[in-house]
Amino acid sequence: MRVAMIGAGYVGLVSGACFADFGHVVTCIDKDPGKIARLEQGEIPIFEPGLEQLVASNVREGRLSFATDANEAVRTADAVFIAVGTPSRRGDGYADLSYVYAAAEEVAGLVDGFTVVVTKSTVPVGTGDEIEAIFQRVRPGADVAVVSNPEFLREGAAIEDFKRPDRVVVGTLDERAQGLMRELYRPLFLNETPILFTARRTSELIKYAANAFLALKITFINEMADLCEALGADVQQVSRGIGLDKRIGGKFLHAGPGYGGSCFPKDTLALVRTAADAGSPARLVEATVEVNDARKLKMAGKIIAALGGEAAGKTVALLGLTFKPNTDDMRDAASLAIVPALQAGGAKVRAFDPEGMHEAGRLLSDVAFAANAYEAAEGADAVVIVTEWDQFRALDLDRLKTVLRRPVMVDLRNVYQPADLRAKGFDYSSIGRS
Ligand code: NAD
Ligand code: UGA
Repeated sequence: MRVAMIGAGYVGLVSGACFADFGHVVTCIDKDPGKIARLEQGEIPIFEPGLEQLVASNVREGRLSFATDANEAVRTADAVFIAVGTPSRRGDGYADLSYVYAAAEEVAGLVDGFTVVVTKSTVPVGTGDEIEAIFQRVRPGADVAVVSNPEFLREGAAIEDFKRPDRVVVGTLDERAQGLMRELYRPLFLNETPILFTARRTSELIKYAANAFLALKITFINEMADLCEALGADVQQVSRGIGLDKRIGGKFLHAGPGYGGSCFPKDTLALVRTAADAGSPARLVEATVEVNDARKLKMAGKIIAALGGEAAGKTVALLGLTFKPNTDDMRDAASLAIVPALQAGGAKVRAFDPEGMHEAGRLLSDVAFAANAYEAAEGADAVVIVTEWDQFRALDLDRLKTVLRRPVMVDLRNVYQPADLRAKGFDYSSIGRS
């Protein structure tokens, strides 16, 4: 099958490379010429484990190519995927659908013969109807089926998630489109991955409901962590104690500084807007957004408390800046709230992140970036683990203690055990553990 993937970002590039690996012929199209030029030279514009090899092998086999111009790939495609960004619209929290609609307009002008147009971007309920209307306006009579096929991959584990998903959701009642989508995902189908066919609006909502539920689950355990601190209990044991109940499940119960990333923050907000507009407010999601936003700032307070209640004149070393490990993505990372709050209190911030410093440099000001964890900690009054990169799980604590001005560690990801750190002479605080 021939696939045109519009948008070669995290989702478009990973999905395109994986579809090529399934044996389809895929062209990834992006309007960013710099991105396409790098891809054509074998360079991967994002950090995603395993992606470089996957792209290289499929390019070598002639199944994967890149273009800035959608023309030829769309004309010859059996399926055109729209995988462009749907960020929060500035100021009001609605999903900004301008990229999706612009892509749909362009595709509508180009399709030739029966084509399935698939929205992979996360889009509010009813967006598929709008795309259909665009096709009717731009190309009345075009033989297309507009399908929703939300993506559930996580950054940092994207290839594994795409190739071994818990399920594939396809929103269309059109039988020809269902057949084509089944064919596209055939290797997963053979693997007995559940493929759920629904109406388009239901599929669109499934994506938001999934992200909102996961965000809510994290926020719940974060609140329990605060309660643990207040009552002298241990949140890791609470997580385990509830997570072993199969109805609850142990995943996404890791307490931390508040969820971030390119999706949970914007998708929860967009769902709140959709629900309010539909006259059916999503109060739990509203509370999740509020509690999570407040939490990130609260983390700065926790760090200042560890500094003795005063940030002015102190130097803080942050380890990890990205919203989670194994990505260079800084979107809505907790560090983006924590750093300015520390600076506002008068602290100097030094930081090290294995992959995120380039992007962080554009988003944060007055941060001194270091070459490694120990350089960041040199002479600092406290070291803070913000993102749980593997290399921060195995720090040489004796060396760290030697370079710090004061042996203070704030561990926002519960990477270390309090007893171990105290035995090493650290003044150690973490999340939800007394
Ligand atoms: P991204 O910003 O990394 O990539 C989007 C790409 O689309 C950019 O490279 C941009 O240049 C390109 N683009 C925009 N308009 C275009 C057009 N008209 N023609 C060609 N290219 C165009 O975004 P992303 O993180 O890949 O997210 C894409 C969508 O997938 C969003 O709706 C997001 O919510 C959803 N999603 C993301 C993830 C994730 O982990 N990042 C997971 C699941 C779903
Ligand atoms: C998330 C979802 O997990 C994916 O299924 C979804 O496809 C994607 O959003 C999306 O729609 O874009 P992602 O944002 O890549 O994926 O990363 P997650 O692993 O879900 O982490 C999100 C945030 O929650 C991170 O800041 C992470 O540190 C935090 N988190 C996660 C916790 O604080 N505790 C946990 O137990 C899990």
